[in-house]
Amino acid sequence: MLGLGTVAALGALAEASTPVALPGPGPRARPDGYDVVRENARCEQCHQEIAAEWQSSLHRLAWDDPAFQSAYALEAQSFCRECHAPEHDPEAVSNGARHIGVGCVTCHVQGEQIIGARSISASAGHHAVAGDARLATTSACASCHQFDFREPQRALMQSTVDEHRASPYARETCQSCHMPTVEDAEGHSYRSHDFRVQGDTALLSSAVRAEARRLGDDGIVVSLRAGRVGHAFPTGDLFRRLEVRARIDGDGGPIAKPVVLARRFAMIPGENGPTRIQVGDDRLPANGDPRHVELHFGEEIRSRTVQWEVAYQRMDGPMAQLFGIDPAKDEVIVARGTWSGERSQ
Ligand code: HEC
Ligand code: HEC
Ligand code: HEC
Ligand code: HEC
Ligand code: HEC
Repeated sequence: MLGLGTVAALGALAEASTPVALPGPGPRARPDGYDVVRENARCEQCHQEIAAEWQSSLHRLAWDDPAFQSAYALEAQSFCRECHAPEHDPEAVSNGARHIGVGCVTCHVQGEQIIGARSISASAGHHAVAGDARLATTSACASCHQFDFREPQRALMQSTVDEHRASPYARETCQSCHMPTVEDAEGHSYRSHDFRVQGDTALLSSAVRAEARRLGDDGIVVSLRAGRVGHAFPTGDLFRRLEVRARIDGDGGPIAKPVVLARRFAMIPGENGPTRIQVGDDRLPANGDPRHVELHFGEEIRSRTVQWEVAYQRMDGPMAQLFGIDPAKDEVIVARGTWSGERSQ
């Protein structure tokens, strides 16, 4: 929560009667009797395009997401609800508010005010908007998209904000890539709210540049670097990974042992029980430095055809199976190529 002094200094607020906080984890301060489910439905009624995008987003699904529910069933900690059900009210008996996930109200309502990136005064047909320019900056995303494991763990569970700072795109906000300007049916432009990454093969593929060359008599090296992406690839959840793999002579041919690029963790003994630390990070770094992945077949590849590919996976196969997800359907091929003779294409 910000002090009143900071709020006054912002100056841009239409009515700075209540201190304004950025979008972030719950519980969110709400006036007595404020019904978040009903208020969220009201926003949806008037802002229909944005509502349709949000309905299909993982923000909307943050609580109902089957992958989240599977993980929460194994590790049901109240702190998970701070981001996956920020409208959850710890005092309420029933909690329908969980199911709106990260709602319109989570990002746009403070006290009695509707917050937007700029101020608009009320007039016939629409409400006032209290402007807070920070809504158009990375600060609007930071407190949910970077955080630690709970004590006694000593590692970042997600580190997207630090990665973004180290990226050549550090001056571009999260919104500039994740809320592109789109047009509604009448041709009015506005910022998209689908925040889509999962299932967007084009966006995922834009995050990597890859090429391959021969390595000795029996292998290839695939060189990968981050493409147009404002952080490491992959970023976000700690189980995201890339798998680099190759085979000779098409289906049924010999395959090389795949190489996985991901964050790696270990448990070490600690004063208050086992403590998780990060022991490695093989992802494509945000700063664009390359990773060279060596794949060996254990047999001569000269004059044969090698096919290689890079698969983005939300989680490893055993975990996907545990969560009831078909691992083959959960991956996206983000780069592929063929090496034949001395040429690579
Ligand atoms: C009765 C219809 C109506 C309801 C209900 C409504 N809005 Fe609006 N809202 C409007 C109109 C009309 C405008 C001004 C035109 C525009 O930008 O769409 C507006 C403007 C905005 C803006 C600023 C847009 C800009 O151009 O910067 C935001 C943000 C916003 N609304 C969010 C919300 C949220 C969040 C809710 C629910 C708490 C909500 N609105 C409820 C009709 C409504
Ligand atoms: C995860 C946070 C988040 C959620 C959830 C969210 N918004 Fe927004 N919204 C933003 C941000 C950030 C902006 C400002 C983007 C910018 O200008 O850079 C914005 C902009 C807007 C605007 C102005 C759009 C424009 O460009 O004219 C409206 C209207 C709006 N939101 C309504 C809604 C409604 C209605 C919902 C729910 C259906 C919703 N928002 C859900 C973060 C959110
Ligand atoms: C209240 C916490 C919260 C805020 C604020 C928030 N997010 Fe999220 N965001 C989440 C959660 C939780 C998920 C994942 C939900 C799931 O998959 O279960 C998520 C998912 C995403 C995804 C992944 C979508 C996909 O298809 O994989 C993107 C991209 C994203 N958020 C961008 C943003 C941006 C940009 C902002 C700032 C404008 C923002 N978020 C603000 C909590 C938040
Ligand atoms: C230059 C464009 C760009 C900027 C800036 C950017 N992103 Fe991304 N983001 C991408 C691309 C491309 C992907 C898909 C590749 C990936 O997963 O890394 C992505 C993926 C994501 C994902 C999904 C990760 C997953 O695998 O589930 C999240 C969450 C996310 N971004 C959050 C953010 C946040 C938060 C910021 C600001 C701190 C931000 N992004 C800034 C381009 C960008
Ligand atoms: C500070 C906010 C925050 C907290 C606390 C948090 N998460 Fe998340 N979680 C996120 C965000 C943001 C994402 C989206 C990142 C991405 O798309 O890669 C996410 C993604 C996930 C995903 C991936 C969902 C998918 O669709 O693949 C799982 C599973 C998950 N969280 C489980 C948990 C569990 C279990 C807890 C509690 C132990 C927890 N989270 C606590 C913010 C949070």
